[in-house]
Amino acid sequence: MESYPNVFIFDHPLIKHKVSILRDKNTGMKEFRELVEEITTVMTYESMKDVALVPVEVETPLEKTVQYRVPEESVAIVPILRAGLGMVNGVHRVFPTARVGHIGMYRDEETLEPREYYCKLPDGIEGKTVFLVDPMLATGGSACDALAALKRRGCRDIRFMAIIAAPEGIAAVAKAHPDVRVYVSTLDRGLNEHGYILPGLGDAGDRLYGTK
Ligand code: PRP
Ligand code: URA
Repeated sequence: MESYPNVFIFDHPLIKHKVSILRDKNTGMKEFRELVEEITTVMTYESMKDVALVPVEVETPLEKTVQYRVPEESVAIVPILRAGLGMVNGVHRVFPTARVGHIGMYRDEETLEPREYYCKLPDGIEGKTVFLVDPMLATGGSACDALAALKRRGCRDIRFMAIIAAPEGIAAVAKAHPDVRVYVSTLDRGLNEHGYILPGLGDAGDRLYGTK
């Protein structure tokens, strides 16, 4: 795959281990949800390596000291419904006070084109670091449209996190939104004729919520 300066693919043995369990068709809904959350937390840490810290004065039991913190109110989370909802708690573990916006998208099963059916974003989101989250990046249509919606709202610092991506989806997002930092835990081989990622894990929304 072509390399893109703002696309970061994790190559961590423990993430590989967890993703291998996610992929297994015998992994049940509860374990699937827990793993999505856990992987997202690790990805959140990794994706914030460049975050700007602010100095704060802290008094330890021994003395006053200047330490450094992330301004928590500067982060927002936006899941792409439905499957992205499964990642929200994983980011909240790191940023418990982050506000959450929602963008509803589903793929037309014939054309694979995304259809937006809902968008509600918190006031002031344009000034925040926004985590757009969706476990699956397949053709990239849903992510590209969600990123365009965030930019129309004025968001500038956007990080997109996906657990599994196809090369087609990465190329689509990197070309349409080269300014967005894209974090992917696992790069898969490609897409089948129905737009499903191979080897993938199937339909993430159905596996999270027990539908189909
Ligand atoms: C899935 C997934 C992404 C999208 C990825 O959602 O959660 O949003 O497909 O595909 P793309 O990169 O080709 O756009 P889906 O449309 O199945 O909706 P759901 O989450 O409500 O099940
Ligand atoms: N959406 C999913 O949930 N899975 C895929 O493999 C592709 C899109």
